[in-house]
Amino acid sequence: MGHHSAAVWDFKAATEISKDWNGIDQIMLRNPQGASARVSLHGAQVTSWRNEKGQELLFTSSKAIFKAPKAMRGGIPVCFPQFGNCGSLELHGFARNRMWAIDENPPPLPAKDSSRNSFVDLILKSTDEDMKCWPHSFEFRLRVSLTTTGDLTLISRIRNVNGKPFSFSFAYHTYLMVSDISEIRVEGLETLDYLDNLSQKERFTEQGDAITFESEVDRVYLSSPNIIAVLDHERKQTFLIRKEGLPDVAVWNPWDKKSKAMTDFGDDEYKQMLCVDAAVIEKPVNLKPREEWTGRLQLSVVPSSFCSDRFGLERCGL
Ligand code: BG6
Repeated sequence: MGHHSAAVWDFKAATEISKDWNGIDQIMLRNPQGASARVSLHGAQVTSWRNEKGQELLFTSSKAIFKAPKAMRGGIPVCFPQFGNCGSLELHGFARNRMWAIDENPPPLPAKDSSRNSFVDLILKSTDEDMKCWPHSFEFRLRVSLTTTGDLTLISRIRNVNGKPFSFSFAYHTYLMVSDISEIRVEGLETLDYLDNLSQKERFTEQGDAITFESEVDRVYLSSPNIIAVLDHERKQTFLIRKEGLPDVAVWNPWDKKSKAMTDFGDDEYKQMLCVDAAVIEKPVNLKPREEWTGRLQLSVVPSSFCSDRFGLERCGL
C-alpha cells in the first residue's frame, strides 16, 4: 500500500495496489474508458486484462493454484532465463516463481511507453540462491502498461550486471481467452519453420494458410513477423500480438489428454484457451557485461471485421 509514487501513477489514469488472498501485493491498472489489468508481484505475472466492457481477455484456469512459489495457471507468466526444458533449470526458468519488487526509480523509456498510459514498473534481481543454479547477475525490469485504447504492453529490460557474458531464452507465456479453440485461426505464422515439441523438437515447415486446432499443439515458430493475429470467429474479435526483439512464437494447446493430466487445469478448459507466446528460443540472447536487452509485447483486441479483408490485413500490418 501507499506506493503512490511517480513510478506507478500517471496524471490521468488510476493505479491501485492491493493484497491478493495470500497477502501478496497486486497492482491494478485502469484506463479512463474502464479497461483494466492486474499484475501480481509474484512472478510479475499479469493475472487479468479486461476491455472497457469488463470482458476478461486472458485465460485463468478455474483450478489454478494461487500458492507461491509456483506460477498460477493463466494470465501471462514470464519465462526467464529458460524457455521450456531447453536447459538445466526448472521448466520455463525461475523468474515466474519469484517475488518481484516495485521499481521506484526505473531508467527512462521512450515517451510512447510512458505518456497517457497507466503503468507499473517491477524489478527482479538475481539472488545468492538463484546464483547456485544460474551463476549470472542480472537486473530484470518489467514495465506493464495499459494504454488509453486498452492495449496491454509489456516491456522487459534485462541487464547483465555480471563480469562475464551470459545467454538466456525468454517468453511472454500468454494465455489468451478464446470462445472455442476449434473456431480459432492464427495468422502470421504460415510458411514458417517450427520446432515441434511433440516430436523431439524436430523441424517442420508450416504448410497451411493459417493455423487451426484439432489436436494438441506444442510448437515454436521461428523468425516470425512482428505482428500475429489470433482470430476468434465466434466472438468476431481478433487479438493482435505486436512484438519487438522477440523473433519466435510458441503456440500451445494441451488438448484433452494433457488437460486431464494437469492438476491445475480443468478437463475441458483447453477449449477456452490458447497460448501464443512472443519469445526468444531458438537463438538465445547473448548479453555482454553491462549490456541490456529489450523485448516488447503489445496486445490489442479489434473487431474481426477490421482484419477480415485484404485492406484490413494491411491495416493490421499483416
Ligand atoms: C508451453 C510448453 O509453452 O508451456 C509446454 O511448450 C508446457 O510444453 C506448457 O507444457 C506449460 O508449461 P507449465 O510449466 O506452465 O505447465
